[in-house]
Amino acid sequence: MRLGRGLAVVGALAGGLYWLARYLRPQHSTLILQDKVVLITGASTGIGRALAFAFARRGARVVLAARSAARLEAVRREIEPYTGDVLVIPADLTDEEQLQSVVARTLERFGRIDVLVNNAGYWQGGRLVDLDPVRMEQVVRLNLWATMRLTQLVLPTMLAQHSGYIMNIASGFGRVAVPMVSSYVATKFGVAGFSDALRRELGGSGVRVTLVLPAWTNTDIVPPERAEVLQRYGFHIDSPDEVAERAIAALVAGRHEVILGGPIALLGVFVERYVPFLMRLYWRIFMTQEWQDAMSVPGGDEAR
Ligand SMILES: NC(=O)c1ccc[n+]([C@@H]2O[C@H](COP(=O)([O-])OP(=O)(O)OC[C@H]3O[C@@H](n4cnc5c(N)ncnc54)[C@H](OP(=O)(O)O)[C@@H]3O)[C@@H](O)[C@H]2O)c1
Repeated sequence: MRLGRGLAVVGALAGGLYWLARYLRPQHSTLILQDKVVLITGASTGIGRALAFAFARRGARVVLAARSAARLEAVRREIEPYTGDVLVIPADLTDEEQLQSVVARTLERFGRIDVLVNNAGYWQGGRLVDLDPVRMEQVVRLNLWATMRLTQLVLPTMLAQHSGYIMNIASGFGRVAVPMVSSYVATKFGVAGFSDALRRELGGSGVRVTLVLPAWTNTDIVPPERAEVLQRYGFHIDSPDEVAERAIAALVAGRHEVILGGPIALLGVFVERYVPFLMRLYWRIFMTQEWQDAMSVPGGDEAR
């Protein structure tokens, strides 16, 4: 009798947990990218350019935004064979007026926005005491503020459509506090927190948020001097195409978050979250002069 009651309680608990897990699990989306309007920031080079290709190959209508009109036009010429509809908008996204005009021009041309990809970002590395404060402000403005503001500008349209996808390209540095990159890390933790909070705020609205955490990727952010040291430290360097494909797969699957970079990156995020003292120990040992110099090498637009 007592055994029967015990089994019934265990069964009820297991069933309850199963249904709770199913209820909380990310929903598989029904997203089909053909003809969707996808606005991509930082689309002139690197990961943004690879994303433009990957969305275009799926038949999406793409809007390419970044500062360099010439590089954006080159991307447009390259992707036009895949998609008939490409809109190029040269804009500095640290500027409020230009941000507003990116959204206005997209809506004027297409009347809707299905996917917003917040990808544009600046690199800044080195000891905090040595960082240029003007650049530091720009890093916060582009990596974090522009992501939040552009999302805010696009949301009314997506809410009215009862459907929309926000893809935020943060970084593994959005979950792991790597030394010698404090301003960049701060913005990426900001984007991760923003994405998590917004996803909860938008629950049930039809607008979804996918956070992408790329690891080291072969773009101007990783010039050869930095790449050499990273490889000595055992880090894999992904190609921008790999990042774009995995990011889109996560978006289509309705995933909340995707950590790229393989087992080392997954382990890093796990240790940072659950065994932080091990991470402190790691950096006590491995924040060598070589690491400090490698992080201080200019990257991204500073290197172009
Ligand atoms: N590469 C990596 O190892 C790595 C790892 C993790 C995360 N990420 C993140 O991935 C994203 C893309 O990085 P990436 O490696 O592809 O860098 P990237 O090659 O330097 O590309 C950055 C893009 O942002 C654009 N951009 C820069 N300043 C801008 C501004 N003020 N307004 C509008 N667009 C601007 C650039 O174009 P213009 O110069 O023409 O404006 C370029 O298209 C960034 O958010 C970065 O933090 C990169």
